[in-house]
Amino acid sequence: MLSDQITLLNETTLRCLNEADEIKIIKSFIEIGIKVLGADFGFVWLNSAESKELKLVYKSPQTPYVPQKPKEGGRNYTALENFLPDYVSHVKKRYDKYDVSLYMKSFVIIPLGYKKMRYGSMVFCFRKKELFPEEKRMLCVFIGNSAAQTLTISRLIASEIETQKKILALKEVTRLLNEEKIKTEFIANTAHELRTPLAIIRGNVYLAMQCDGKNSKTPKSMLRAIDHEVVQLSSILSDLNVLTTKGEEFKNEAVRENVNLNFLMKEVVKRCKTLALKENISIQLHKMPEVTLIGDTAYLTKMLVNLVSNSIIYGNKNGYTEITVKKLKANIIITVRDNGVGISKEDRPHVFERFYRADKSRNSGKNSTGLGLAIVKWIAETHNGTVSVKSVLGKGSVFSVSLPLKVIS
Ligand SMILES: Nc1ncnc2c1ncn2[C@@H]1O[C@H](COP(=O)(O)OP(=O)(O)OP(=O)(O)O)[C@@H](O)[C@H]1O
Ligand SMILES: [Mg+2]
Repeated sequence: MLSDQITLLNETTLRCLNEADEIKIIKSFIEIGIKVLGADFGFVWLNSAESKELKLVYKSPQTPYVPQKPKEGGRNYTALENFLPDYVSHVKKRYDKYDVSLYMKSFVIIPLGYKKMRYGSMVFCFRKKELFPEEKRMLCVFIGNSAAQTLTISRLIASEIETQKKILALKEVTRLLNEEKIKTEFIANTAHELRTPLAIIRGNVYLAMQCDGKNSKTPKSMLRAIDHEVVQLSSILSDLNVLTTKGEEFKNEAVRENVNLNFLMKEVVKRCKTLALKENISIQLHKMPEVTLIGDTAYLTKMLVNLVSNSIIYGNKNGYTEITVKKLKANIIITVRDNGVGISKEDRPHVFERFYRADKSRNSGKNSTGLGLAIVKWIAETHNGTVSVKSVLGKGSVFSVSLPLKVIS
């Protein structure tokens, strides 16, 4: 029955839709074709994306000979060009090596194509004479269409996979280039930051050498200037040391101790008091819950000192710094709020970048390197936390750090 044969063909199509291997698809259609057409054997010629040349990609095991490669202008190419099956009921005898009448009485060439695409052809051969009644012709067209549509999908998927692979490779190259750019910028910025203190030290050493040791002592002011720059240099180097440690290394080597945040906060306030007094800024530490984190005391202290000292340095004289600590689900949220100079919308996305200083002219008098917030971010993230900022220029800023209570997993 025609409907049964069509059902069988549909089942093959459905099964082949999950198949990526073209040859397996072709083989399935040859097998089912032999069955529904009552053929004895069959084979398939396919071209490729690169060339129109037809190549034998599959022949059923029952095929008694090696089919001759189709010639341009021959039956296979013509059937493909006209996109019509070529039914040959009577194979003529030939007296040369191309005589296939030894193996079959009839055959059909079914072109394989979809829309404007042409893939090749399937050939089904019959040992007994086949007249190709209307029903068989319909089946031939149906087999060709189903096989070609399945091939189209398989080729589309393959080319989509190829495209995705290319996109991934491109993304990787872009990532590497970015990484390289960040490294180069980092080195350039570091060199720049080290150059200023070194130049000041050199200048003062030079001046000190000019002084006659017998008659006059090296002026204290020069030594003080050198000392100041040496302190500055050590601080830059220690910051760089933190920033160049890989997060993973830190996680492996970090001290995982119980950190009493209440005690740590008081210590941070104590350390920033002198700086705040100088600017007449009040530091308010709001009542906080008892919190014990697992993490590294030295790093967590550094992170909070950086935030609190920023709120004073970029605060307004007679202003305030307000610190709150709250538990929120499994996290602890620390906020440092000031009513200082604030950060513009343009600068805000960049303040956590290494060496970034907002409004360079405003910062020029201050001994700042723009590493503080990069370190804050680094420490928060290596403790599996985050840091964010909200700020209005001229009004003040709020920096919030969120840390999971179970910090290092
Ligand atoms: N609380 C704040 N209020 C206003 N601006 C701030 C505040 N905190 C940081 N900034 C801006 O962000 C920039 C980056 O801060 P960051 O702490 O990283 O570097 P820095 O303070 O310039 O130098 P240092 O490395 O010495 O900390 C600062 O230069 C400043 O312009
Ligand atoms: Mg700072």
